[in-house]
Amino acid sequence: MSLRGRRVVVGVSGGIAAYKAVEVCRRLFDAGAYVIPVLTDDALRFVGVLTFSALASEPAHTSLWDDPLPSPHTTIGRSADLVVVAPATARLLGRYAAGISDDLLTATLLATSAPVLVCPAMHTEMWEHAAVTENLATLRRRGVHVLEPGDGALASGDVGKGRMREPAEIVAEAARILDSRQGDLAGLRVVVSAGGTREPIDPVRYIGNRSSGKQGYAIAHAAAARGAIVTLVSTVGLRAPESAVVTRVNTAAEMHDAMIAVAGAADVIVMAAAVADFRPAAVASSKIKKDGATPQVVLEPTVDILAALGAAKRPGQVIVGFAAETDDLEAHARGKLARKNLDLIVANDVSAPGVGFEHDTNAVTIFAADGSASTIGLSSKDAIATAVLDAARTCLAATLSARAANG
Ligand code: C5P
Repeated sequence: MSLRGRRVVVGVSGGIAAYKAVEVCRRLFDAGAYVIPVLTDDALRFVGVLTFSALASEPAHTSLWDDPLPSPHTTIGRSADLVVVAPATARLLGRYAAGISDDLLTATLLATSAPVLVCPAMHTEMWEHAAVTENLATLRRRGVHVLEPGDGALASGDVGKGRMREPAEIVAEAARILDSRQGDLAGLRVVVSAGGTREPIDPVRYIGNRSSGKQGYAIAHAAAARGAIVTLVSTVGLRAPESAVVTRVNTAAEMHDAMIAVAGAADVIVMAAAVADFRPAAVASSKIKKDGATPQVVLEPTVDILAALGAAKRPGQVIVGFAAETDDLEAHARGKLARKNLDLIVANDVSAPGVGFEHDTNAVTIFAADGSASTIGLSSKDAIATAVLDAARTCLAATLSARAANG
């Protein structure tokens, strides 16, 4: 439904996967989209303009200079509901990230305010090059959606990562992006921390905890599906939303720095990570041997990230903490809510069966700063994620209506 009647520009740059862009156009067209192909000069070395013109909703555009449209460099991008670049070569990504608009496709990308989905395709060596990694990070930071390539056969008989995703997946992602634009968190920046921190004792050992990161990732996925721009700060490598910017960390100190770096711009911060409260005061520089005396590990407190975020909270920002408790749930949770200047705290009794760490289910009570509380009985972590975001959305309502009033 989300594609019906929507204007989708399909940008095609010069890689062998350009032949698959023909099917992307066709599928978008069949789903009811108005499809506008824009091909680079290099794309035309792989595929013919007539093929795209025949399958799309209007003749393919190829040139800044010889196009029937007035000012094609801005007209096409301005009228788009979505721009999909498939394939996106390393060169195209580099020009886009650097803002070099030297052909119709890059000009369209710079002129559009519509969401953009890039589908990279290139040889593995190029995909792994730091320049490509950094260009993609830049684009992601600016809100560009990236559908990462898969593993498989590449041009010239090579096999590896860099193969453009299949047309059906690209069209599904395009539909998801357009759907999420209509979601109730559309355009809001949601930062989620997930997983347990690891505090090193020596180069091979650490003090950790049993957090799997599942609840944090469920919140990240639910937020992305509702249109939020999601940043994940995580200690684990679970599957993240395609559109999320992910920062991997290990220690509480690293998580603190990563969270502080992104917190200022966040509308909602969900601190689902299980952060160590103590860390070894000194980290041995080489592996501690068992044939010596039994070592004593002296601990020192870590920084309380959530308290720091709460202290720096800006008006209108919503901060959500978690509290894993084994007794006196409400008193402890409400104490933390007040002490850390939170809007919501999601409390769970981790001693109950099926609740909390490592499970796929959870049961929580969400306490709000206004004194209200809602209890969600044993449910999937996805259902808990929805409830947490609903509660955050309620807290944000005042900010959102103020924004709407200001246009
Ligand atoms: O005080 P307590 O550790 O129980 O609070 C739990 C909440 O505080 C969680 O949201 C957790 O992510 C956060 N926290 C933190 N930094 C710490 C310890 C906990 O941000 N050092």
